[in-house]
Amino acid sequence: MSRYAHITGWGTALPEHILTNQDLEQMVDTTDEWIVTRTGIRERRIAAPDQTTATLAADAAVAALKHAGVKPTDVDLIIVASSTPEHIFPATASIVQDMIGASRAGAFDLSAACTGFIFALNMAAQAIRSGSLDTAVVIGSETISRIVNWQDRNTCILFGDGAGAFVLQASETPGGVMEAVMHSDGSGADVLMLPAGGSKIPTSPDTVAHGLHYVYMEGRPVFRFATRVMAEGTREVVKKAGLSLEDIDLIIPHQANYRILESAARGLKLPMDKFVVTLDRYGNTSTASIPIAAAEAAAEGRLKPGDKVVFVGFGGGLTWGALLAEWTGPLPDREEIHPERYRLWARLRSSGLRIRRKFLAATTREKELGG
Ligand SMILES: CC(C)(COP(=O)(O)OP(=O)(O)OC[C@H]1O[C@@H](n2cnc3c(N)ncnc32)[C@H](O)[C@@H]1OP(=O)(O)O)[C@@H](O)C(=O)NCCC(=O)NCCS
Repeated sequence: MSRYAHITGWGTALPEHILTNQDLEQMVDTTDEWIVTRTGIRERRIAAPDQTTATLAADAAVAALKHAGVKPTDVDLIIVASSTPEHIFPATASIVQDMIGASRAGAFDLSAACTGFIFALNMAAQAIRSGSLDTAVVIGSETISRIVNWQDRNTCILFGDGAGAFVLQASETPGGVMEAVMHSDGSGADVLMLPAGGSKIPTSPDTVAHGLHYVYMEGRPVFRFATRVMAEGTREVVKKAGLSLEDIDLIIPHQANYRILESAARGLKLPMDKFVVTLDRYGNTSTASIPIAAAEAAAEGRLKPGDKVVFVGFGGGLTWGALLAEWTGPLPDREEIHPERYRLWARLRSSGLRIRRKFLAATTREKELGG
């Protein structure tokens, strides 16, 4: 019996605070006109001080689980793709697992910059299709505002915060994730990076003084690379699935720059209305941009069960990839779930586990000391 990995739920978490191009005019030497004509971006969301990559990820995951009608306790795997993880370690996915009370789930982060969501979706789908597990939550979540230099007009105008999540479930009905392609060219690692804070250049007063804890980007080479791989990746995945571009109902691209999307559309000889565009309102939310755009397209009725959709992205690494899916929706045995009850249960469970760990640590120490 063949197994398929259906996308059965989706959800987003978008911070309330909106930073417009007019606001940016007060912060750096730029204009709304420059930003709109060069990028298509008009505004972006900025996380509140109490929001982090993990809290946004957990909110998006819970919304997606509610939509799919899946209990957090039925999740087998959580993958968080992020360019702004909560810490180098532990994985943000582990923190999300605890926050949503996914007590049975394994959890790990996947690092492939803005392409991360596509790679994570493919990994989860392959685990489901192989029979290794039944239910996965894949999340793209970012607080890029925390690693952007708000005095650098070359980068700060581009990015925004937010999260998006998909629930994937095993099904014997054909549909869901069909094919994917994943690529990397590490010779371009230095054109888009966060230079310091890792093991090569640990954080020090010197790295902070030189601003090495901020996003570093060479815009033009990234632009050239992006315009090439968006069309190439889309063609490649469509061919691999044995389909042609005419079979594709919708393309959900990584949202970096409207001119990159126009160039991909020209390269594929497709009209712009085949592409979902949200960057005007959210900017580049890195790994979160594709699931946010997909959730919006589904909510607007642009993405319907049975549609063939290509997700295509690129980013630091350099990395790029594309994934072709037949859009489905919740499985027939969907249950009504009450996420707020699970969130409360998850908080109590987490507190209980923490108290138990402290108690055990204290009693073990007493025993070791002969107490
Ligand atoms: C960043 C990007 C928008 C810049 O647009 P561009 O048309 O390539 O512009 P350039 O870098 O050639 O800069 C043109 C001029 O505008 C200036 N400029 C840059 N940012 C500016 C801003 N926010 N406001 C006003 N002027 C700006 C530059 O300093 C430069 O001035 P100069 O000619 O006097 O040196 C574009 O290169 C891009 O989108 N690259 C890809 C970025 C990306 O997708 N990153 C994420 C990958 S996941």
